[in-house]
Amino acid sequence: MPTPQVLIVGGGMITHDQILPTLYHMQRSGSVGEITVCASRPLTVRALAQAEALLRAFPGQSFRGLPESGEQQPELYREAIGGMPPRQVVIAAVPDQLHFDVIMTALRHDQHVCAVKPLVLKHSHAMEIEKVARTRDLLVGVEYHKRFDDRSLMARRQYRAGRFGDFRLGTARLMEKWYYRHSNFQNWCTTENSDAFTYIGCHYVDLVHFITGLLPVRVSVYGIVDKYPNGKDGYLWTDARVIWNNGACLNVQNSLSFPDAAPGTNTQGLTLYCRGDGNGALLDHSDQYRGLKYSYTRSAGDAGATVYAEPSPDYFQYVDLGGKGLTPVGYGYRSVAYIVEKCLELEACDPAGRAEMLRQIDAAGIMATPANSSYNELVIEAGRASIVSGGREAAIEYGDHPGIRLL
Ligand SMILES: NC(=O)c1ccc[n+]([C@@H]2O[C@H](COP(=O)([O-])OP(=O)(O)OC[C@H]3O[C@@H](n4cnc5c(N)ncnc54)[C@H](O)[C@@H]3O)[C@@H](O)[C@H]2O)c1
Repeated sequence: MPTPQVLIVGGGMITHDQILPTLYHMQRSGSVGEITVCASRPLTVRALAQAEALLRAFPGQSFRGLPESGEQQPELYREAIGGMPPRQVVIAAVPDQLHFDVIMTALRHDQHVCAVKPLVLKHSHAMEIEKVARTRDLLVGVEYHKRFDDRSLMARRQYRAGRFGDFRLGTARLMEKWYYRHSNFQNWCTTENSDAFTYIGCHYVDLVHFITGLLPVRVSVYGIVDKYPNGKDGYLWTDARVIWNNGACLNVQNSLSFPDAAPGTNTQGLTLYCRGDGNGALLDHSDQYRGLKYSYTRSAGDAGATVYAEPSPDYFQYVDLGGKGLTPVGYGYRSVAYIVEKCLELEACDPAGRAEMLRQIDAAGIMATPANSSYNELVIEAGRASIVSGGREAAIEYGDHPGIRLL
């Protein structure tokens, strides 16, 4: 069997920081073949091809960049997907509101899909994706990489073994650095498309389900609008309250506000207060400060880089294991590799066994799929309905007619 091709649609931050290096490493070890990156502007793929971190880690490796020349071509990904042999892998790494079109185009051309989070912004879209993928025995994996942080997997095992009792109250935070406001986000993460809770907060909602197995049933989000440097409006500060089906309450705060001068690339963490049999239990993760304190002689000079730093060794790092270049390590690497490897396993298995393998992936719940994680889309819909109505609570209905309702 020829090595599978991979097409990444979108050439922005997440492609540079996590997806392309993961695929380059898989290419280096022989599990994937040609890599194409299709953005909408030639400038984007040119900058990616010249990115110093990638050249240093993967000497001699390259990708095919589209568009090769000319103006902005926002529809070019359709052609790029259409030109692939069937049953390869497409990675959707475009702004949130474009995921649905990219994913559906890939599925209609018989391609497996790895989608960055959030899968889509509407529950009905997640259901449509699930239906089309199922009829063609295609895998759609949603890249919620916090699931592949060992601490999340440890917490899941211990919670499900009953060692934390019952989750009652919790608090999660993820504040990105202020300088994000100056990035391409200002062009799309605006009030009409998204907000800090939808963009960032979904990680912790997904993680609380991943750990506890509980489902969110009511959501309210209070958002504060700020201006981006380009004058566009964004809900850049959000405070969400998520009620779960056992009555537990999680507070999730998100913003693009963490000082550029502060150590670490963001500040984030999760605390769950739980009830045991006659006692309390506590799960407390600092997901930004992981025990490393580095004071350099000078800052690296990148946006948000500081002289005193608290780097995370766990998300994504390059290490020197000898040989040419550098090796990517961390849960960011493991998460993308896991999804792509599952696509390859599915292709390698007897076609008659594919539906059963897909059923097992859904049931295991380690990889987020449209079938096992569409509560995320319901939370996003509820959160969006709430934030635009000043923080009113929205209820989530499951069962035969899933949907949301403002209370
Ligand atoms: N922690 C995470 O899991 C995480 C982190 C960052 C981003 N993301 C997700 O990744 C996605 C992209 O985010 P980003 O940070 O890379 O954003 P970005 O703004 O840096 O990049 C977006 C990219 O999409 C490309 N694009 C836009 N329209 C396109 C089109 N029509 N055809 C082809 N390419 C197009 C742009 O050229 C750009 O390269 C978002 O959905 C975001 O939520 C996830």
